[in-house]
Amino acid sequence: MLTLKDNFDRKFEYLRLSITDECNFKCNYCLPDGYQRSHQNEFLSHQEIKHLVSAFTELGTKKVRITGGEPSLRKDFPAIIESISNFDGIQKIATTTNGYRLQKDAQHWFDAGLDAINVSVDSLDANTFHLITGKNIFQKVMDGVSACVDAGYKQVKINSVLMKGVNDKDLDLYINWIKTQPIQLRFIELMQTGDNAEFFDKHHLSGLWIKEKLLNEGWVQKIPLSHDGPAQIFAHDEFQGEIGLIMPYSKDFCKSCNRLRVSSTGKLHLCLFGEQGVDLRDLLVDASQKEALKERILLALNDKKESHYLQSGNTGVTPHLASIGG
Ligand code: 5AD
Ligand code: SF4
Repeated sequence: MLTLKDNFDRKFEYLRLSITDECNFKCNYCLPDGYQRSHQNEFLSHQEIKHLVSAFTELGTKKVRITGGEPSLRKDFPAIIESISNFDGIQKIATTTNGYRLQKDAQHWFDAGLDAINVSVDSLDANTFHLITGKNIFQKVMDGVSACVDAGYKQVKINSVLMKGVNDKDLDLYINWIKTQPIQLRFIELMQTGDNAEFFDKHHLSGLWIKEKLLNEGWVQKIPLSHDGPAQIFAHDEFQGEIGLIMPYSKDFCKSCNRLRVSSTGKLHLCLFGEQGVDLRDLLVDASQKEALKERILLALNDKKESHYLQSGNTGVTPHLASIGG
């Protein structure tokens, strides 16, 4: 069978598919002025998504994460989950959400076939949460997280971008929280994008600082599994939860890259940073185009670069991560 491999021997069995770039939050590092539509294109239709995922599964994709913007803003979100989970080759379907609809919908999405969920919770203090996201709904989001645990998801992860002078004081709160919660906390290092340079300079906090603290407090780094991707995972005997560190500025981050991205308007992005994307949309019109679609994807992969070159100040063409799904 054909597989998605690049010239640096990386295998891509994980697809991150954005279904909208719209978001109802105003995270200070992402969309501080709220969502503004910057293109006239319609988002991929449910049918186009099916054609796309069908081709990817034939190329060996085993895991799909539905991203945004905020994916649950789409009315057909549960239907999309169901269609993707019905493909034979798909072993895992996940989403990343800001948690806005979780309390109400966590169970529905689970019933539709969703296996795993990442919720962005950038502070465990209600005021700071409000300050970062522009939404005064900390408790509602936390109740949503509990609803996920109750619904029986295989995996509930919490994403947090720790920022100097904003929410770095919450680190101990987070760590204490997972003493009794089977949750994986993921601290994502703030990334510089086209729109947030000034903010980045002021608030970027290196994940190495967190790593050092964890090691000092008895956390042990786990041996990476091939499907972990670039996260470094830490565990501790006295804690039910785990901690993942995502440090895009660290050396060799890209070596374990295992994902491809498709934007909400049908562009294939080989990297979060640094390129315009390869348009796939003209090949999503009907099922008879599948072979051509697969060929275009394989051809594009030949161009995947070894690294994102972020360390050299590259922020690429990505204005903010809502535009490509983080
Ligand atoms: N740097 C790091 N993480 C970001 N996210 C969005 N923008 C950035 C950025 N500039 C994260 C969100 C969310 C995930 C989808 O992407 O916090 O958890
Ligand atoms: Fe929306 Fe996520 Fe961006 Fe926050 S980080 S504004 S929740 S897309």
